[in-house]
Amino acid sequence: MAVGLTSDLEQVGLNKGESAVMRKTLRVVAIAAAGLLGCLYSSDAVRAQQAPASTQAPPAPQTANLATGTETGIGTFQTHCMGCHGNPNMERVPSPDTIRQMSPERIYDALTIGAMKAQGESLTEDQRKMLATFLSGRPLGSLKEGDAKDMPNHCASNPPLADPSAGPSWNGWSPDIVDSRFQDAKGAGLTAAQVPQLKLKWAFGYPTGLSAFGQPTIVSGRVFVGSDIGYVYSLDASTGCIYWSYQAKGSVRTAVTIERVKGHGATKYAAYFGDAHANVYAVDAQTGAELWVQKVDDHFVARITAAPKVYKDRVYVSVSSSEEFSSSNLDYSCCTGRGSVVALDANTGAQVWKTYVVDTPKPVRKNSKGVQQYAPSGGSIWNSPTIDVKRGAVYVGTGDGQTDPAPDTTDSIMALDLKTGKILWFYQAQAGDAFMGGCNGPDRTDNCPKVNGPDQDIGNSPILRKLAGGKSVVVFGMKNGTVTALDPDRKGAVVWSVHVVEIPKGQENSFAAHLNGVVWGGAADEQNVYYGLQSGGMVALKLATGDIVWRATFKIPVRLNEDGSVPSNVTITRVINSAAATAMPGVVFVAGSDGRLHALSSVDGHILWEYDTARPFATVNKVAARGGAISSIGPSIVNGMLFIGSGYAVTGSNSGNVLLAFSTEYR
Ligand code: HEC
Repeated sequence: MAVGLTSDLEQVGLNKGESAVMRKTLRVVAIAAAGLLGCLYSSDAVRAQQAPASTQAPPAPQTANLATGTETGIGTFQTHCMGCHGNPNMERVPSPDTIRQMSPERIYDALTIGAMKAQGESLTEDQRKMLATFLSGRPLGSLKEGDAKDMPNHCASNPPLADPSAGPSWNGWSPDIVDSRFQDAKGAGLTAAQVPQLKLKWAFGYPTGLSAFGQPTIVSGRVFVGSDIGYVYSLDASTGCIYWSYQAKGSVRTAVTIERVKGHGATKYAAYFGDAHANVYAVDAQTGAELWVQKVDDHFVARITAAPKVYKDRVYVSVSSSEEFSSSNLDYSCCTGRGSVVALDANTGAQVWKTYVVDTPKPVRKNSKGVQQYAPSGGSIWNSPTIDVKRGAVYVGTGDGQTDPAPDTTDSIMALDLKTGKILWFYQAQAGDAFMGGCNGPDRTDNCPKVNGPDQDIGNSPILRKLAGGKSVVVFGMKNGTVTALDPDRKGAVVWSVHVVEIPKGQENSFAAHLNGVVWGGAADEQNVYYGLQSGGMVALKLATGDIVWRATFKIPVRLNEDGSVPSNVTITRVINSAAATAMPGVVFVAGSDGRLHALSSVDGHILWEYDTARPFATVNKVAARGGAISSIGPSIVNGMLFIGSGYAVTGSNSGNVLLAFSTEYR
């Protein structure tokens, strides 16, 4: 696989959770994983070792390891293409945004045999391929290979979809709209005592995929899942046979939500999801036929990474942006991207309201190359909105600002009115966080904020929980290791705030030391909230007080030499466990960058079961597939089965393309 290609999808699939420093750490972990996995990853291991973390400049995410070493998809596009594409004074030039909706093949053809042949000639072949994959957000070849049409595992028939609310389900990011990620006993169909008997039942491979980062939805006995290759699949939950595929205009990492839809003839239920180019979709859950597509933001790097929520005929969508990754390029008019929440009519896709996190960006100054700069910007929302029916509110966590000064709604929990989108209150957890990739090291440019911020985006969905006494809390975690509970009845007043990861003495000013905490989010039962940690392991806190109930750490698995010594090519640092947690009665699950999925007792944190997903799997659709890191999603549990995707291309070494289904009955 081409290095540039991996790296590009990385950028497209990258969540704000992973900064350059995290990548650096992951790269080190990859070396350990390479030792563990032996020859399977040997070429990746060599690559990882050739670029040891210590020699990496900390700032810019390594988005494309091409000949120049530092080139990025967005950077190349800015320098070679944006003089025309994105230039308001040029007519009949497709906007960057329009190009991003095209398939990688169409963009590649334009640069090699089509209208852009002349422009393409000034690029290397690697750059042309990189631009095609970066702009489309999908690998070359995925369009054909990912289509269900040619797969060998078609279901024998497609009987009418049962009412999703009639049986247990894991519908979207969480089984509920309050983002607890808790499956109750009835829904789980699995007890704590049965968890250790879970066995792999089937595996499905995403053809040409590099990142299995979609949280699987299971409704009416069917799995609905998005992929980095832009296909959404509907599979049979018990056998993995395929009902349909749908090709979106960008990669789909959001969970899919199934709800009743009106006004589309015989269609009863729609599957709702978003893509990496800010399109929201409703397709027929039975057949995959398109019902509507709505673009919710015009910015050319606007994207949707979080699962939409569907509640009472409205779809609530979080919008984020990749703008910060390369905005320090002096050719770039930085920055105009901003986060928002959009409410759409679930039946038609028409916009009901849209609320931006920050005000409209205005021209503020010209950089040293004379390129106009803008502010304010940023406030991306990477997490699925949390719905509070009682208070008529929707809660989201917001990201950092890009340009100075970072507005006070960045790095915040915001409460918006469910009906109108009006801001009800916000709580800023980190002030003054204007952050851009490429601004912490020697490549810093004068596009950069004066002081590059600590990169404290709130990547996880706020969890709304009712306490025993009748009060409620809105709980969230930060990358710096702070977990906080807010009171939704007192405009977000702090109920408690606890540091679950200590900053080591002497490292108070270290950028990396503030990124060891919570990224993708926790799970909460009635008593506790559970968070996996960037520094490894997991922590349980009492919902009512924030008291720490237990901590769990996991062994770092390394394949030792025969004499028991650690192989010299292995650098042991840590495993990252900041993937989203999942809870059910008596058990909490969390996976890690080593691909291991752990089930722990929610009472005391002892390990009940573990499974290593970082290996090849035989798949029902006969696609060569393997698992890798698990860094964003957690398992979906329903009806005695557990589903999880494995492979998260944060580094080339950790990529994967497999969806795994477990059950307690032996296959
Ligand atoms: C000198 C101005 C200019 C530059 C520089 C330029 N383009 Fe274009 N591009 C155009 C115009 C004009 C069109 C419309 C051509 C047409 O419709 O015949 C276009 C069309 C396209 C299309 C659409 C092709 C299709 O199938 O409809 C793609 C893709 C594209 N450009 C990519 C790029 C990329 C990638 C770069 C940078 C490497 C680039 N362009 C640089 C002017 C430019």
